[in-house]
Amino acid sequence: MSHRTIRLRLGATATAGERSYSILIGSGIIAELGNAVRQDGAVRAVIICDDRVREPHASAACRSLAAAGIGAEILSVAAGESSKSVSEAGRLWNALATLAVDRRTQIIAVGGGVAGDLAGFVAATFARGLPFWQVPTTLVAQVDSAIGGKTGINLDAGKNLVGAFWQPRGVFADIDTLATLPDREYRSGLAEVVKYGVILDAEFFAWLEQHAGEILLRDPAAVIHLVERSAFLKARVVEEDEHEQTGLRAILNYGHTFGHAYEAAAGYGRLLHGEAVALGMTTAARLAADIGRIDAGFVARQDALLRSLGLPLTAADLGTTEWMPPADALLAIMGRDKKSIGGSLRFVLPTRIGHVELVDGIDPAIVRRLL
Ligand SMILES: NC(=O)c1ccc[n+]([C@@H]2O[C@H](COP(=O)([O-])OP(=O)(O)OC[C@H]3O[C@@H](n4cnc5c(N)ncnc54)[C@H](O)[C@@H]3O)[C@@H](O)[C@H]2O)c1
Ligand SMILES: [Zn+2]
Repeated sequence: MSHRTIRLRLGATATAGERSYSILIGSGIIAELGNAVRQDGAVRAVIICDDRVREPHASAACRSLAAAGIGAEILSVAAGESSKSVSEAGRLWNALATLAVDRRTQIIAVGGGVAGDLAGFVAATFARGLPFWQVPTTLVAQVDSAIGGKTGINLDAGKNLVGAFWQPRGVFADIDTLATLPDREYRSGLAEVVKYGVILDAEFFAWLEQHAGEILLRDPAAVIHLVERSAFLKARVVEEDEHEQTGLRAILNYGHTFGHAYEAAAGYGRLLHGEAVALGMTTAARLAADIGRIDAGFVARQDALLRSLGLPLTAADLGTTEWMPPADALLAIMGRDKKSIGGSLRFVLPTRIGHVELVDGIDPAIVRRLL
């Protein structure tokens, strides 16, 4: 089975040499998962998935492991963000204890960002850390959440408040799994793809403009290219700033300060994450234009690309605006966002297609007017 491979290399630590892993992208590659896990020394595996991907995807992973001589159990959680919880993590820890899992057991996360973040966190914490693999089955997970080692769960007080940096042993992005993904979820993932073009890669942005038709029809060659390029760009950022310390990794938050505020205001569940990011990028581009960092041409190009990929630019594009709170309420939510620093507003803003900068101290009055 042919596939593309991206190697992600992380710096040496005091106690270990360089760490690295492969991100494999291709069609039908779940069949190769078992061999890779076997070569990594596993004798046993536990698959953690959500109940919507148990059939056919977690089962396919299980068969691949079995064919390589690895016994695997499947533990599933309810689909949806609410499974990224303390109680689900606790349930999984206890299930692993009941299965008498030891350090020669590897965890396999099969699913979207929810399954990956939760399973990764459980792997990071059980028995002080079990090796784990990511088998992302949503576009969001293939281009973003499965790469880079951020794992975590939510608290009532906020999303992703408890977590760990815990890198996978490898990532198997099998684009065939996307065949069962609903259109709305697929398009939501495209928002993160557009984000990579805006923040890092003008040529990729232009490619997306030229291939929007094939992308929406999920032409396999187009999907492989966009997953590969996105994964490559995310991997390069993570390599430079694994633990979000230098500010580089923060550029991945383009559109997310506004996006998280829209998500929170809408109540989790009304907007998909990528839809919120599309609205957020639309607002961020207008903010950048307002303060003279970019021209109207940038805004028009980004708007046109988002639109041609079936993404919303405004709440009205999603049908109803009744959930949209007044500007002050949105500003208050942004003030609480853990990415804001000491009350003043910080945004990732573009200077041109393919380049963004972190901008501190934005006047809240300008933001209020935009909202
Ligand atoms: N760790 C990171 O770096 C990172 C980055 C971005 C997002 N995230 C997290 O990822 C989550 C969002 O991820 P998501 O959009 O993948 O959501 P998700 O995991 O909830 O998946 C979306 C929906 O699609 C279903 N699904 C998954 N794969 C499917 C398939 N192949 N066919 C049919 N249905 C399928 C799921 O059951 C779910 O209902 C959020 O919790 C977010 O915080 C994490
Ligand atoms: Zn995102």
